[in-house]
Amino acid sequence: MRISLDDGFDLARRVHIKNRFFKSALSEQLGDKDHGPRPDLSTLYRLWAEGGSGLLMTGNVMIDRRFLGEPGNVVLEDERHLEEFGAWAESASEHDCQVWMQLNHPGKQIPSFLCSEPVAPSVVPLGHGLGHLFKTPRALTEEEILEIVERFATSAALAREAGFAGVQIHAAHGYLINQFLSPHHNRREDAWGGDATKRRRFLLEVYRSMRASVGEDYPIGIKLNSADFLRGGFSEQDSMAVVEAIAAEDIDLIEISGGTYESPAMIGHRVKESTRQREAYFLAYAEEVRQLVETPLVVTGGFRSGPAMLAALNSGATDFIGLGRPLAIEPDLPKRLMADPTGHIDLPRPTTGFKSVDRMVILDLSWWELQLRRMGRGMAPKADLSAWRSVWTTLSELGVAAFRRRRA
Ligand SMILES: Cc1cc2nc3c(=O)[nH]c(=O)nc-3n(C[C@H](O)[C@H](O)[C@H](O)COP(=O)(O)O)c2cc1C
Repeated sequence: MRISLDDGFDLARRVHIKNRFFKSALSEQLGDKDHGPRPDLSTLYRLWAEGGSGLLMTGNVMIDRRFLGEPGNVVLEDERHLEEFGAWAESASEHDCQVWMQLNHPGKQIPSFLCSEPVAPSVVPLGHGLGHLFKTPRALTEEEILEIVERFATSAALAREAGFAGVQIHAAHGYLINQFLSPHHNRREDAWGGDATKRRRFLLEVYRSMRASVGEDYPIGIKLNSADFLRGGFSEQDSMAVVEAIAAEDIDLIEISGGTYESPAMIGHRVKESTRQREAYFLAYAEEVRQLVETPLVVTGGFRSGPAMLAALNSGATDFIGLGRPLAIEPDLPKRLMADPTGHIDLPRPTTGFKSVDRMVILDLSWWELQLRRMGRGMAPKADLSAWRSVWTTLSELGVAAFRRRRA
C-alpha cells in the first residue's frame, strides 16, 4: 500500500506520530538573559503545530551554560526555568503534535567571544579559514568527559520532567559528539579515541546514561552525519558503523544529515546535480542504512516538493520527512502538502548584491533565524526580507570578526 504524507507512524515505546512531517531543529536563539526559554518560543511552536507537523524538534538546547554555541541559546542544566520550559513543551499539545528537545554541547564550535577556552577531544583547531572566529580548543580530561556524559543525562531527565515528549542527541554538524566520532578531530590515544570503536564510546556512553535517567518508556533519538565531507574526517563507512552500534542499543529514531561548519553540507553546499534532482541531499546514504537496521529513519536536508517526499517515503529510504528552512518561511507547509501532495516550495535566495558576502554561511543562517524571531513575535515570516538585515544582525551580535577575510 502506498504511504501518504498524512499516514501516522508508531515508534517503539508506544509513541505515535500523527503524520510524516518532522520539523528539524532550527536554532531559534530565543533564550532570555539567563538562557531560559522566552515566551516567543511558545508562540513559534504553537504556529508550527497549527501548521500540521507531526513532530517538532526544538533548536539545540545547551547542556552547559559555560559552553554556548550561539549567544541566544537556551540552556537546560538544572531546575531553573522549568515552568517556562513546561509552557514551551505544552505549546503544541492542542494539535496532537509532539515536541522533542534536541540536546547539544558545541565542543570547539563556539565563537571566540563566547568562550575563552573551548574544549574538544583533542587540540585540533577548526580549519577552512574558521580560525579567526573559533579559538583552538584544549583537550578534555577523562573526568570532564564523564561529567559531560552525566550532563546529557541530567538535561534529558529535566526535559522529560518539563513535559517534552522525547529528546534527541545532537551528534551531527561538527559539535562535540561529532568531534569525538571524527578521526580528524579526535586524536586521543586513551579509551575515548584511537580507533572507530573507541571514538564512538562517548556517544554510546551519552546514550546509555540518558536512557538510565529517563527510563525505558521515553523516546530518545539521534541526529547523525552521513559523513562530515572532509578529507580524513568522519566517513560514510564510519557513520554506518555508528548506526549499527546505536541501533543495537535500541535508540528510537535516527535523523540523517551531514556536514560541519568546515563543510556545510547540511544546508546543501556542494551538492551534486544528481542529488539535487532527488531533492534530499542524504537519501542515497539512507537507502544503505535501511539495509542495515530497522530503526525508524528521518532524512533531513533539501526536501522541497510533495512528489519528492512521497517518492522518498515509498522507496522505503525514510519514514519521516525532515524539514528545516521551508518551515521558517511557510510554517503550515505540511497542511498545504497534505491537502495537495503535488505542491512544492521555492526557497528564497536573499542577496546583498555582493557575491563574497552572499557566500558567507553565517549570514545565510542568520537570515533564517530572523524569520524565526519574527514568528516568535507573532509576525508572519517575510520571504523578501532584505539580506542586509542579516548583515546588520550578525555585525551587532558577532562583531566585525565575522566578516574578516578567510584564509582558505
Ligand atoms: C537557521 C538554522 C538553524 C539551524 N539549527 C540547527 C540546530 O539547532 N540543530 C540541528 O541539528 N540542525 C540545525 N540546523 C540544520 C537543520 O536542522 C537542517 O538539517 C538543514 O536546514 C537542512 O534542512 P532543510 O534543507 O530542510 O533546511 C539549522 C539550520 C538553519 C538554517
